[in-house]
Amino acid sequence: MLVLRNGRVLDPSRGLDEEADVVIEDGRIARVGRGAGEGLTGERVEVRDVKGCWVVPGLVDLHVHFREPGQEYKEDITSGLRAAAAGGFTQVCAMPNTKPVNDNRAITEAMVARAASANTAARSAPRLHPFGAITKGLEGAELTEMADLQAAGAVGVSDDGRCVMNAAVMRRALEYARTFDLLVSQHCEDHDLTAGALMHEGAVSTKLGLRGWPRVAEDVIVARDLLLAELTGARYHVAHLSSKVAVRLLREAKSRGIRVSAEVTPHHLTMTHESVLGYDTVCKVNPPLREDEDVEALQEALRDGTIDCIATDHAPHSTLEKDCEFSAALPGMIGVETVLPAMLELVRRGVFTPLRLIEALSTAPVKVARLEGGSLVVGARADLTVIDPEARWTVTKSTLHSKSQNTPLLGRQVQGRVRLTLVGGSLAHELS
Ligand code: DOR
Repeated sequence: MLVLRNGRVLDPSRGLDEEADVVIEDGRIARVGRGAGEGLTGERVEVRDVKGCWVVPGLVDLHVHFREPGQEYKEDITSGLRAAAAGGFTQVCAMPNTKPVNDNRAITEAMVARAASANTAARSAPRLHPFGAITKGLEGAELTEMADLQAAGAVGVSDDGRCVMNAAVMRRALEYARTFDLLVSQHCEDHDLTAGALMHEGAVSTKLGLRGWPRVAEDVIVARDLLLAELTGARYHVAHLSSKVAVRLLREAKSRGIRVSAEVTPHHLTMTHESVLGYDTVCKVNPPLREDEDVEALQEALRDGTIDCIATDHAPHSTLEKDCEFSAALPGMIGVETVLPAMLELVRRGVFTPLRLIEALSTAPVKVARLEGGSLVVGARADLTVIDPEARWTVTKSTLHSKSQNTPLLGRQVQGRVRLTLVGGSLAHELS
């Protein structure tokens, strides 16, 4: 039995935000409430005083790239899960743009098995839920066997990194997925409009002389897909939303009751194209960092629920792939270990309440992907994270667990740290 005493318990599933004890027994939440852990003693009882810390449902990331199979030099499932646990995650969804692509049952099964083997006697690992590809080889032409992928453990499909450009293929994908209610997540980018693009199209791209990626390239796909989602009734999800216009389209679609959901990354919520001014390749991401108005629109949409959740798009790349000229650098930044400090900064600035932040990082993604979790009610599986919102630490190669260090926060001091991550009541991470 584990007793977490005097923490600030935030449970968005029932709007709870109060100081309380949480008692965990046999992998489940046994009691929650003021004084619930008082008087519990004995050999089997471990008591931790977590006063000043937040006790929240385990965080869930709908969008990570763990690069296994195929590019384990950047990250593998074991290192990715270790990093995720250190960042407070108890469940993550792995994108299929691996090498080979996760477009068949055998690869999905291998990923699930590898994640299970990341559990050791000393430490449990977060749960890994793969996304399978929408089209074979991410080529945008031939649909995958989605029923097979789902049976093997996939919780959704996506061609992330690539957009399904052909509207007829997308329509068929949504119709097929609809038959067994599988989530379809789209990387919204009209590749014709972004040919040769290296960053957001705007004043900074003009100044730097870099080809721009206009926000309309995202907007046209979001608009088209919302129509197709309405037509087919499928569960449609917008990955890494970045444009203020796409936010408007999504808000309108949701107000008409279309079954759609969306995620936003920590970097799109906090950074703009100005970060690219020094040709900093770490800030090269896809979709690109945009403008102040986009950041404001994304923050507002996350606040009011138009955007359901925060997903990191954790995209590890090696030094070789980033320490080069801007045009050759691969897009993406890591995120699972720094999402909390980055987002707590927004809480301190009053952009979100603590409860909405935790909802966007746990209860909401659980609903989108239909997972178990996102709640601290009695009887729930003890997937739980303890966060010290005040603790300061410096992001360095040695404080990170990921195999890659491509984050703009490298070398920076941040505030907010995960003290404890429990998966099914077992220790996945503990700050030493
Ligand atoms: O920045 C990105 N990196 N965006 C994507 O869509 C793909 C990802 C990757 O796989 O590196």
